[in-house]
Amino acid sequence: MYEKDLIKTFGSLVEDALLVISHDLIIKDANAASIRLLGDQVIGTDLNQQIVYSGLAEELAACIHSKKPIEFTTSPTRNHYRHIRARMMSWGEDTVIVLLLDMTLQHNLEKMRRDFVANVSHELRSPLTSLIGFVETIQNSPDMELSVRERFLNIMDEEAKRMSRLIDDLMSLSKVEVDEHLVPEGRVFVKSLLQSTVNAMSNRALKTGHDIRFRDHRAQQNSEPVIRGGNDEIMEVFQNLLDNALKYSFPSSIINVEMHDNEQGQLVINVINQGEGIKEKHIPRLTERFYRVDKGRSRQMGGTGLGLAIVKHIINKHRGQLMISSQLNKETIFKVTLPYLTD
Ligand SMILES: Nc1ncnc2c1ncn2[C@@H]1O[C@H](COP(=O)(O)OP(=O)(O)OP(=O)(O)O)[C@@H](O)[C@H]1O
Ligand SMILES: [Mg+2]
Repeated sequence: MYEKDLIKTFGSLVEDALLVISHDLIIKDANAASIRLLGDQVIGTDLNQQIVYSGLAEELAACIHSKKPIEFTTSPTRNHYRHIRARMMSWGEDTVIVLLLDMTLQHNLEKMRRDFVANVSHELRSPLTSLIGFVETIQNSPDMELSVRERFLNIMDEEAKRMSRLIDDLMSLSKVEVDEHLVPEGRVFVKSLLQSTVNAMSNRALKTGHDIRFRDHRAQQNSEPVIRGGNDEIMEVFQNLLDNALKYSFPSSIINVEMHDNEQGQLVINVINQGEGIKEKHIPRLTERFYRVDKGRSRQMGGTGLGLAIVKHIINKHRGQLMISSQLNKETIFKVTLPYLTD
């Protein structure tokens, strides 16, 4: 078979990028997947322009010489931030067929997994180090004043509770992630649920001078809005949003929870607070695990940075949407949209 027929014959057989190159690295032909990966100007360019691998010329010479397939992984390409595994095989005297496998997704997933393990270890280590420190201090100070000892024990209690909260949140997150693809089975009576969540948090709000108000703006206020879902999970969403509203709002301000229907006939619930707000650049990242705008401040308040990650997963599972908008030193709105139960 002639080299010019290679791509015509085999190009559509593989989903990955297939190139035909000459011994001096010039790309002679490319399949549709190569054009998707590297752009439509790829033919005629030097392979060195497309992938970043310092020993490319040597690998190619070895491939032509030995007639054996060669495989290597490239750094991200210059124009496209991609991780690529390349396989080469010689064809005839001075032609080489190159298969480029796009490993970017696997690479990113692997990075996410490593970051997650590093974050969890870090979050657990801080309270644990502090606990060990206080235990040693108490052990080595038999004459410690009772009041000091009491203070240390209170800190230890706080740290132990923080670890316990972190583990609860991690379990919650992993539980929703496992069955995120399954539409929840039960029925949730959202108005009653919101009213009882607001009531349950009102005592805490009183202590900080906050007032949580619930309003139903739907046209049919007497009917109970019902969605398909898990009661505990939907409650967890609003407990988290209200917990944030209380933590990150101005002291003694009003927090509004309001409900209405949108034009698509879905149920919308807004949790609105007045506070410092969130800068635009942070908004897309808030639902990432462990992402906190001010790490120190959030930790001081006992936060783990998992709250909104859990919220996002639960809402996805319920086929809903979460939108966040914020005006600095004014209003911050967490808008939850959920589809009504249809059967
Ligand atoms: N209503 C809000 N106003 C201003 N900032 C907010 C608000 N809600 C969330 N944030 C910001 O988003 C970050 C992530 O929120 P998230 O609920 O995931 O974590 P957390 O509240 O710090 O900890 P946790 O919820 O796990 O106790 C917070 O650390 C805070 O910086
Ligand atoms: Mg939170």
